Amino acid sequence: KRVGVLYGGLSSEREVSLRTGAAVAGALRSLGYDVVDIDVGKDLPARLIAEKVDVAWLAVHGRYGEDGSLQGLLESMFIPYTGSGVLASAMAMDKVYAKLVFIAQGIPTPAYRAFADEASALAAGDSLGFDFPVVVKPSREGSSVGVHICKARADYDAAVKDAAKYAGTLLVEQFVKGREVQGGVLDDEALGVIEVRAAREFYDYDAKYKAGTGTQYLFPAPLPPDQYARVNEVCLGAHRALGCAGASRSDVIVTDGGDVFLLETNTLPGMTATSLLPKIAAGRGIDFPALCERLLQGACL
Ligand code: DAL
Ligand code: MG
Repeated sequence: KRVGVLYGGLSSEREVSLRTGAAVAGALRSLGYDVVDIDVGKDLPARLIAEKVDVAWLAVHGRYGEDGSLQGLLESMFIPYTGSGVLASAMAMDKVYAKLVFIAQGIPTPAYRAFADEASALAAGDSLGFDFPVVVKPSREGSSVGVHICKARADYDAAVKDAAKYAGTLLVEQFVKGREVQGGVLDDEALGVIEVRAAREFYDYDAKYKAGTGTQYLFPAPLPPDQYARVNEVCLGAHRALGCAGASRSDVIVTDGGDVFLLETNTLPGMTATSLLPKIAAGRGIDFPALCERLLQGACL
């Protein structure tokens, strides 16, 4: 079987995807798979046919890759692919839509407001219904692109204007102070929780992908056992609520009081050298090639 590792694409997370793709393709080759690297672009259907791709390993983050559109194309071409299907991908990619699903399923997530456009978000700055600090996010980006923490009302307008440059609605979320942890799920099993201690204000784009920003990773996260179990439960609950398949990685805050809040679930978590899902899997004895192979074996239509 010929495995197409699909990566790149047009989203703001293209650079991250190139790294995920290279890592995954290398790992599958090391296991002896016949791998073809495919940078996702306009001529994709023709290339999938020309390259005789039997199964697609999806390493594309963000729009046109993580959001269900690529999954729909592959469905239409009867090419099995790794990870979540069309609906789960689309719901998870839109942070506002995902919140509706989480709330309906009783999964704790910070209070929020959603706005269709910049003007309505600006107009609501004095009446959000919760206090500053708040977090302003474009609803359909990843890797913290366009995300701003606003400590005070004075920071809000500029944050909204920047976040509005990206596609989708605008999400304004109550800032929840606490420890940043991430939970991995693989094949409907909670794999465990890693804690991220960013030396920066939060685990932003640079802390995620630039070496030497001083981020510390602790696996297993040094949480009290009941909180650790609760994070696993919430991450698995989110994975199931969205109907995810294969792997997901959820971003979670644990407050000083031990309350757990789900921020979001990523259906195509990064698989770069500094990424968290591979670290979690490694901590559970699943090395990187084995993780890539597990996901490949789960590929379906
Ligand atoms: N959106 C990035 C790739 C992640 O979730 O890991
Ligand atoms: Mg994300």
